[in-house]
Amino acid sequence: MLKTERNMERLDKFLCDAGVGSRSQVKQILKAGRVTVKGTVIRDGSVKTDGADICLDGDAVGKKGLAVVMMNKPAGYVTARTDERQKTVMELLPEEMISWDLHPIGRLDKETEGLLLFTNDGDLLHRLISPKKGVQKVYYARHEGTAGDEDVAAFSQGIVLRDGTQCLPAMLQPIGEGESLITVCEGKYHQVRRMMASRGLHVTYLERREEGALTLGDLPRGAVRELSSEEILAL
Ligand code: URA
Repeated sequence: MLKTERNMERLDKFLCDAGVGSRSQVKQILKAGRVTVKGTVIRDGSVKTDGADICLDGDAVGKKGLAVVMMNKPAGYVTARTDERQKTVMELLPEEMISWDLHPIGRLDKETEGLLLFTNDGDLLHRLISPKKGVQKVYYARHEGTAGDEDVAAFSQGIVLRDGTQCLPAMLQPIGEGESLITVCEGKYHQVRRMMASRGLHVTYLERREEGALTLGDLPRGAVRELSSEEILAL
């Protein structure tokens, strides 16, 4: 690849982004002469690099490539990168993923549990949250009342929310008294809760179980795992 000014960046920033350490740790590491670029020890963090042939203690250092991560989100965490008052889903990412620059794909409400994806790829992020893509999401809900045939028909025609918003056709499957599966392919604010409320079926518990071809599987609540390249392709 042509090395232009555009894909050059400071060595210290490169090392931080690659997860080598915090800015002050990277400064110490450089000062100690532990970093080489193309075989030469570099102590100056402001040196520009294209990321090629960088070693720490003799081992190659590289930026994390495309990553997609699945979390089984517990209740009580907001889907946001930062929040001054509330716990965020970012706090549940394991140490080694902190430097991956992950962003949540879409959002789950604070009290909603289940499948939440993250990626470090901006294009993938936008493709997956676009309603035009129609990625199907399946939710399990416990709710007041029991859904009947008229509710199922209303969902398949496209629910009109209490504020007049028209939703795309969706699928409601009653699976027992006060329990349903709901499949939607868009992601309006509080969508499932508001769709159910418009039918008088107030949701008391909500869990996302599937997104496109992905299911939670046996991932424990609060746990996180990286998707395989096959799983990313299936997205
Ligand atoms: N719909 C909701 O109402 N809440 C969620 O968290 C996700 C979908």
